[in-house]
Amino acid sequence: MSETIKPHGGTLINRIVSGEKRDKLLQEAEQLQQIPVNAWTISDLDLIGIGAFSPLNGFLEEKDYKSVIDRMRLSDGTVWSIPIVLPVDDSLFERLAVGEQVALVGEEDKIVYGVLDVRSIYKVDQRDEAVKVFKTDDPEHPGVQKLFARPKTYVGGPIQVLNRPKPNKFQEFYFDPADTRKRFVQNGWKTVVGFQTRNPVHRAHEYIQKTAMEIVDGLFLNPLVGETKSDDISADVRMRSYLVLMEHYYPKQRTFLGVFPAAMRYAGPREAIFHAMVRKNYGCTHFIVGRDHAGVGDYYGTYEAQDIFKNFTADELGITPLFFEHSFFCTKCGNMGTSKTCPHDKSHHMHLSGTKVRAMLREGICPPAEFTRPEVAQVLIEGMSDQLVPSSNP
Ligand code: ADX
Repeated sequence: MSETIKPHGGTLINRIVSGEKRDKLLQEAEQLQQIPVNAWTISDLDLIGIGAFSPLNGFLEEKDYKSVIDRMRLSDGTVWSIPIVLPVDDSLFERLAVGEQVALVGEEDKIVYGVLDVRSIYKVDQRDEAVKVFKTDDPEHPGVQKLFARPKTYVGGPIQVLNRPKPNKFQEFYFDPADTRKRFVQNGWKTVVGFQTRNPVHRAHEYIQKTAMEIVDGLFLNPLVGETKSDDISADVRMRSYLVLMEHYYPKQRTFLGVFPAAMRYAGPREAIFHAMVRKNYGCTHFIVGRDHAGVGDYYGTYEAQDIFKNFTADELGITPLFFEHSFFCTKCGNMGTSKTCPHDKSHHMHLSGTKVRAMLREGICPPAEFTRPEVAQVLIEGMSDQLVPSSNP
């Protein structure tokens, strides 16, 4: 098998336990203190387990947590920008002890998803975390809101996964990093560009993907399908839109669709670094960062998520970020472009606000083909019947 890019930290973590060892741990888990975990934590647990969050082998201990929020590195210096933590009810602070093992149990389905060796129990200053990670403590920010809603006690330590969350739909598009790495090699791809999205792929997204595809062997379209804010479009509708788009407009042998089952943090610049490290683990050599990556509202500057990469050397990152300026359709050029390639003024650039696009789709009107492919618009219009379309404004 030919060499693929090294995972972040050098080794692809695998904390999924099977066979007799799993049976034994499941049995032992019955006697352990149970920590209820929600869908977000279950997804983090699973992503750690499959190595998507390599080099993490568990939830952050205090020294790593502090180092991550203060300097975007684990305590050993490895680049890591988003705290992956296990918040537990504050009352557990007294009841838990370092050295014990606890069971992580789904708060709704009571499934034992894993066990954790408690190495660290710590209280955090959430306001400090918010300002460092999200650059704001505004409770209106969706990421900050989630942070403030969870307990202030975190528990850290290595985990072992005993059960994995089961996707309701589109199961065939769930691949672990070990699988995608294998697939990229089988496809003969030496260079692969990863694309993160929480939106349907509009023309601007397509333009930057295809521009990147001109210089690499393959595209890994890797939409985030974990928890998003309520006005983001559902993963279900989005998946249908990606499939129809790929069918009509993408070369099959150079495109690979697989989901990223993580929660969206809306942490803008820091999340861009995190997204890039994770895609490296999936085997990507390049990663697209466009305008306002992982941003929300006006919290981050248009290119802040690109500028943040300057804090790290190419060696530390391992994966090559590909930066794109704000892209648009220019009516005078008759094609897509950016300020780097289009000489015309804004009056020629197609701009549709998210509100306008939503209103059009709700009324069953397709936005112009220069903004979104008609096949994609059709899927979104159909999806409108049971939900709102988000305020994405590419
Ligand atoms: S994100 O929250 O997942 O980043 P979105 O799905 O809108 O949001 O964006 C996916 C990727 O496309 C990001 O890298 C983003 O920066 C980029 N992007 C979105 N719209 C544009 C645009 N009009 N021009 C350039 N890049 C864009």
